[in-house]
Amino acid sequence: MERYPAVFRPLRIGGVTLRNRILVPAHTTNYGEDNLPSDRHLAYHRARAAGGAALIIFEGIRVHRSSLGRRQGVNGYERAAIPRFARIAQAVQAEGARLFGQVIHLGRHIDGNFARMPAWSASAVPWSPTAPPPHPMTEAEIEQVIAAHGEVAANLVEAGLDGIELTMAHGHLLQQFLSPAVNRRSDAWGGSEENRLRLALECLRRVRGVVGGRAAVGLRVSADEFLEGGLTLPDMQRIVARLCAEVAVDFVNVSHSAYHGSYTISTQMADMGFAADAFHHLPRGIASALRDSGRDVPVFAVCRFRSVAEAEAMLADGAIAMVGMARAHIAEPALVRRAAEGREEEGRPCLSCNQGCAGFLAQSLAITCLANPRAGREAEWPEPPQPAAQRKRILVLGGGPAGMEAAIQAARRGHEVELWEAREELGGALAWTERHPALRGEMAKLLDWQRGALARAGVRLRLGRHADTAAVRAAGPDAVVLALGAEPAAAAFPGGGRGMTMEQALAAPDALPDRVAVQDVLGSFAVAGFVEWLAGTGRRVTVIAPTGTPGWQVNIYSSFAWRQRLRAAGARILALQAVQAWEGPGHATLTDLSTGEVRACDDFDAIVAPAHGLPRDSLAAELRAAMPELSLHLAGDCAAPRSALEAIFEGHEIGRSL
Ligand SMILES: Cc1cc2nc3c(=O)[nH]c(=O)nc-3n(C[C@H](O)[C@H](O)[C@H](O)COP(=O)(O)O)c2cc1C
Ligand code: SF4
Repeated sequence: MERYPAVFRPLRIGGVTLRNRILVPAHTTNYGEDNLPSDRHLAYHRARAAGGAALIIFEGIRVHRSSLGRRQGVNGYERAAIPRFARIAQAVQAEGARLFGQVIHLGRHIDGNFARMPAWSASAVPWSPTAPPPHPMTEAEIEQVIAAHGEVAANLVEAGLDGIELTMAHGHLLQQFLSPAVNRRSDAWGGSEENRLRLALECLRRVRGVVGGRAAVGLRVSADEFLEGGLTLPDMQRIVARLCAEVAVDFVNVSHSAYHGSYTISTQMADMGFAADAFHHLPRGIASALRDSGRDVPVFAVCRFRSVAEAEAMLADGAIAMVGMARAHIAEPALVRRAAEGREEEGRPCLSCNQGCAGFLAQSLAITCLANPRAGREAEWPEPPQPAAQRKRILVLGGGPAGMEAAIQAARRGHEVELWEAREELGGALAWTERHPALRGEMAKLLDWQRGALARAGVRLRLGRHADTAAVRAAGPDAVVLALGAEPAAAAFPGGGRGMTMEQALAAPDALPDRVAVQDVLGSFAVAGFVEWLAGTGRRVTVIAPTGTPGWQVNIYSSFAWRQRLRAAGARILALQAVQAWEGPGHATLTDLSTGEVRACDDFDAIVAPAHGLPRDSLAAELRAAMPELSLHLAGDCAAPRSALEAIFEGHEIGRSL
């Protein structure tokens, strides 16, 4: 605790005392059931409260049917929600933390088909070029939404929550009214800043009115929309000061971005492509505007704080009252407690990869975490894991992320675990990120953590140890986990020739020519990272995208910024084209997949064409034939080639099940 004096100081917000300066900001989990909070929410938030965070802000709670969008999103207007919120509040408070609820109307970007109605907004301006224009709200609908904010806030206070966060951030409805880039109205709710601000102000007044002094009331704002014609920091400095002058506000939680199908959306949950301090000026700017206006309102900072040390640096000069760490808490529920106990290295790191959290959110799936497969399964998978009823000898074959994870979990249950890795180093496919820090370098933090966890769990490591049936039989294990990964592969082109694998390129980057093409069919984070790494070496990169969209699996919370970085690095994209044949440097034939036209192309001198890897599963077949009684489990790419996210999950699940 002495290392972090600014973090471990209590804070009073409204009538609420918080034990330290770290909060878990609202993050939609998709754990809702029939639009109500679930037991999964309860276990999830209890774990983070027990993990030491002072404040948890429950994910966006829909105030109205027109903001539902999907079954997994939570509403606060049904009375049935109250007892469910009450149980979560009690669980969080019993662990010494406080629970606030974020009240939200999402406006134009919900899927209206869920409630069989159009999405609502200020004006008929869609959130992306591909979305239908929303319905411009009538006066009566606006009044309904104001009332709904008040009703939901009252329900949450009745449920025993300690505070309400009214969100006018991230491009949701109140920001849609506020933003000159969206609001085209000419009535009392549009036009001047005064008018655009009216809906937020009325909702804030209503919430404060119903809550009174029974709970804290604060705002979440986007201090910069990063949108052409949108709100900027000077606008928001003025607007926040104005709101705080009109209504008693207990805190201002400063984020940024708009929910718009362009670069801005990739800033909200900025991934590892952004500098860690890229947005620090925004909360500082809002705090200074509030100070200048003579108001002492606590300001929260968020985004890409990965460690308590980073939070301490932000808090040190006293301008910022609290630091929000959303993804860092998805990855490590006990982040704060471990820091207090001086055991931070034991905490799983957030990699700012956006694969499990934002990635699953974007697919309307229950969120998970690449680095922490337990996220969202806290009740099923207790921590520490249940000791095994019987100590077994477990042999894990393969020292990539899946094998390491399986070994760690099995050893933590009390088994005697040995891990064999044919190479002299651990890491499997992720080891490339360690060798090339510009290649999604933060992924390597996971390997560091896994190595440390292997040692703490007492796993016996045998590097340089090849596995075959005879060796496995001689070792005499009770169970074997096969996590041998997949052999890298490259596409063979229909008219002849074959591309290089990414791994061949990464192994000998100096041998690559100046002009390189990457044919991206897989669209994975791994290929996207490779393309960016390649462009970052200064080479002239052509991305050939037969699907039409390079990096098509990279979700919108990362893809727009990635595309922008590629553009800045001068990479060229050939969409809906495919390599027909490759005859050597400068001699490619491309097919235009929309017209069928085939043309010669001399724009590049090497082609990298990643294909799905080939599972290294032959040993599994041999073991099944030779040792039919053996308890044999396959994890990760050797079961089916996918990404580190699936590999680590499967390793973890198997390790816990043995
Ligand atoms: C999966 C996920 C869901 C989110 N849902 C919400 C939300 O419901 N309301 C909100 O205001 N912010 C939401 N956010 C944004 C976070 O509160 C936070 O601002 C953002 O993740 C950056 O902080 P971090 O770097 O600590 O994760 C979400 C973030 C994630 C990763
Ligand atoms: S999925 Fe990646 S970004 Fe999201 S919390 Fe886990 S490690 Fe962090």
